[in-house]
Amino acid sequence: MKIVPFKKMKSFKKILLGLMLLLGIQSCYYDVEEQLYPSTGCNLSGVTLSGKVKPIIQSRCYSCHSQQNSGAYGGNINVETYANLKAEVDNGKFLKSIKHESGVSPMPKGNTALIDACEIKIIEEWINLGAPND
Ligand code: HEC
Repeated sequence: MKIVPFKKMKSFKKILLGLMLLLGIQSCYYDVEEQLYPSTGCNLSGVTLSGKVKPIIQSRCYSCHSQQNSGAYGGNINVETYANLKAEVDNGKFLKSIKHESGVSPMPKGNTALIDACEIKIIEEWINLGAPND
């Protein structure tokens, strides 16, 4: 067996680390839906407020932004009624907040992680459809 000099070992390790990093970064670019959600898929067909969007908002946001909780926990923003929800959508803050974009507070508050990527897509799809009261 040939003895590899220590210095060379070190650079080999660096190259290996570099390769691993590169592979890791590369895997982030494969935004193919089937690969991101292999078992269930993110179904964006037939997105409606009552069918798909409201359940997400209920579970993710109502603890602070329901009629009842908004005063104490939600900065007086109550998105339980369609009119109020639509206003938050139309002013652009709703989507920005869940995508953690600059200019608005990231939501859900106190949570550094984004909500599920598919949930964001569903909400975005509904907004792209005009955010109807359906
Ligand atoms: C733990 C409580 C809590 C949860 C859960 C929460 N919010 Fe909020 N939200 C707040 C509070 C408090 C404010 C007002 C103060 C602020 O902007 O940080 C606020 C503000 C907002 C604003 C206005 C932001 C701005 O910068 O003007 C939007 C839009 C919003 N929330 C949307 C959401 C959505 C959508 C969800 C669910 C995905 C959600 N929030 C979940 C507490 C919460």
